[in-house]
Amino acid sequence: MSYKSDMEAVAAKMVAGGKGILAADESSPTLTKRFEALGLQSTFETRRDWREMLFSTPDLSNWISGTILFDETFRQQTSQGVSIPDYLKSLDILTGIKVDTGAKPLPSRPNETITEGLDGLSQRLAEYRSLGATFAKWRAVIKIEGEDLPSRTAVLTNAHALARYAKLCQSEGIVPIVEPEVLMDGLHSLERSFEVTSAVLHEVFCELWDQEVAYNQMVLKPSMVISGKGAADRATPQEVASASVECYKNHVPASVAGIALLSGGQSDVEATEHLRLMNELGPLPWPLTFSYGRALQDPAMAAWAKETGNLELAQSQLAGRASANFAAANTR
Ligand code: G3H
Repeated sequence: MSYKSDMEAVAAKMVAGGKGILAADESSPTLTKRFEALGLQSTFETRRDWREMLFSTPDLSNWISGTILFDETFRQQTSQGVSIPDYLKSLDILTGIKVDTGAKPLPSRPNETITEGLDGLSQRLAEYRSLGATFAKWRAVIKIEGEDLPSRTAVLTNAHALARYAKLCQSEGIVPIVEPEVLMDGLHSLERSFEVTSAVLHEVFCELWDQEVAYNQMVLKPSMVISGKGAADRATPQEVASASVECYKNHVPASVAGIALLSGGQSDVEATEHLRLMNELGPLPWPLTFSYGRALQDPAMAAWAKETGNLELAQSQLAGRASANFAAANTR
């Protein structure tokens, strides 16, 4: 059975009209850490309530085309007893699923990681598809440290695994989000980020090509080209936007359905401004939009912690970030 036209339509819809993707796929341990930092209790029910609050934000589908879920949420039901993927479908929001099982130490390079989760992936994808998933996500993590890291081994093994995942997704009728994240942690300059992000995207697209991944049936989720968080002289937003667009133009084929950026620990306002400035440099070869986690959810989570159960307060924060990013992605 060929899923080609379905996947083309899903990939196009994910990035159409400046809408973006809500990354609500934090694993339970990660969400627990974020909850506990704000004094919130993390249980199966409180995580469900938090996510249900996000998804039921009035008019969310005006700015958000899809949301990425963690397995726990994917299998949960709303307080009204509707499965989360069915609930999202009723809102015209596509359901995505995080399918990697995390970044683990790379045996030959213990300071670096390889993302795992390929074993049994076809079967898992087929099940997710039967339960309503139309796209998936896999995140590779690349660390910069001086001139030594990343090693070529880390870049190549992660690029290979990303392409294996992407091809398996397309064989099962699921659109892959390919996410090679070059971390912002560290002291590195914008130039070093440009150099590493370029090398990573180059290897990722070589692997995607070799493994016959269809570019118009995938979405790329890259990190921005940005100075390290601890760098002494951090690049300006304009410099970040120009360097990122130059890097993507050099390495991302025009036939890729779209680019949906990650926020990677930037503040919510900074992430929106970078997206706006990048789109101002258009016309670009692909739709350029957002797939933020923290930069969409942080203000809502702070409000939720202040007055848990006050849906309107938290939802107005999410609506504010989602609509601002939608406007940024529509900047011409
Ligand atoms: O894999 C990472 C998330 O999907 C994006 O999260 O925007 O907070 O970096 P972030």
